[in-house]
Amino acid sequence: MRVIDCPRFGPPSIVSIVDRPIPAPRSGQVLIRVIASTVTTADARIRAMKMPSPAFAVLGRVAIGFRGPRVHVLGTELAGIIHAVADDVTSFSVGDRVVALTGVRFGAHAEFVAMGADRAIVRIPDRLSFEDAVALPFGSNTAIHFLRDLARLQRGERILIIGGTGAVGVAAVQFAHHLGAHVTATARPHNAELVRSLGADATIDHSAVDPLAAARPYDVILDTVGVTTFARARHAMTPTGRFVPVVATFREFRQAFITARGRVIAGVAGDSKTALAEVMSLAEKGALRPVIGHRFDMHQIADAYALVDSGRKLGTAILRIST
Ligand SMILES: NC(=O)c1ccc[n+]([C@@H]2O[C@H](COP(=O)([O-])OP(=O)(O)OC[C@H]3O[C@@H](n4cnc5c(N)ncnc54)[C@H](OP(=O)(O)O)[C@@H]3O)[C@@H](O)[C@H]2O)c1
Repeated sequence: MRVIDCPRFGPPSIVSIVDRPIPAPRSGQVLIRVIASTVTTADARIRAMKMPSPAFAVLGRVAIGFRGPRVHVLGTELAGIIHAVADDVTSFSVGDRVVALTGVRFGAHAEFVAMGADRAIVRIPDRLSFEDAVALPFGSNTAIHFLRDLARLQRGERILIIGGTGAVGVAAVQFAHHLGAHVTATARPHNAELVRSLGADATIDHSAVDPLAAARPYDVILDTVGVTTFARARHAMTPTGRFVPVVATFREFRQAFITARGRVIAGVAGDSKTALAEVMSLAEKGALRPVIGHRFDMHQIADAYALVDSGRKLGTAILRIST
């Protein structure tokens, strides 16, 4: 089978397509033939070992690898068809359409993936294509975790989403709207209509205006880009407002847990089966819809990484693995 190999940390050109044996499902596992994956900011961070702060880069190398990722095949999410199941697996059958998260184990940039049936694998609702299904989890899991579980965004609250057009941003706009909040999101003019169609009540062109200059105070400011700080954001928040940096450095974690508890909220989104099932359920109801800004074939992986590195990705970048 073909996989995308990342032998060392480096620029987009470091990755290449190589052949590997198709894994055989071990006890408790299913083998998935992958139709589509994604190239996310998580993949790009690991490929380049580019972390939000130098201290995180040290921790990252300890956890991930010193010169390159110990797991050579990146990719955290996939959609495909169950190709084989171990004798002791009863929860899935050959032919099932599924979406799955490999999470920190990576490995989704491959034609076949073997994983435990009890891990984050769920059936794809009939109304979603493979690409639609795989486009949702990364941004949606993050948005749900930060807005509902951490910030406890309430109906009627006013939220500013900085970075409303990235994978996390388009999901955050939709989920904040779903929760009944009044949503303002940043978007360049050519994306403003799209962001409004996702549920934003107002948009701010971040290329022309400082989003924090608005006089209106926000109850929550979600920064999906890492371009502001609590010190700056607090002037645009209500006295009890919460600043929620999705890209947090040690400073934000210190504020969140010591110096500004309750005002700064930081964390890390997970990749559980329950969370994935909830995302698919919300998509089935129409509360979350995929925003696919870009599609790449496997041989275009370097172009996909260059796009993600540019910081100009719109929604999700799909990686087509097979048909
Ligand atoms: N803590 C966690 O658990 C967690 C989970 C997931 C992701 N993350 C992090 O969250 C970050 C965002 O991820 P993502 O996948 O959503 O990124 P992304 O898709 O690459 O975001 C790109 C978008 O950001 C917009 N943008 C760039 N600079 C901006 C600025 N100065 N102001 C407003 N918008 C700007 C771009 O719009 P324009 O092109 O129009 O400028 C583009 O649409 C990443 O750093 C990722 O590592 C953290």
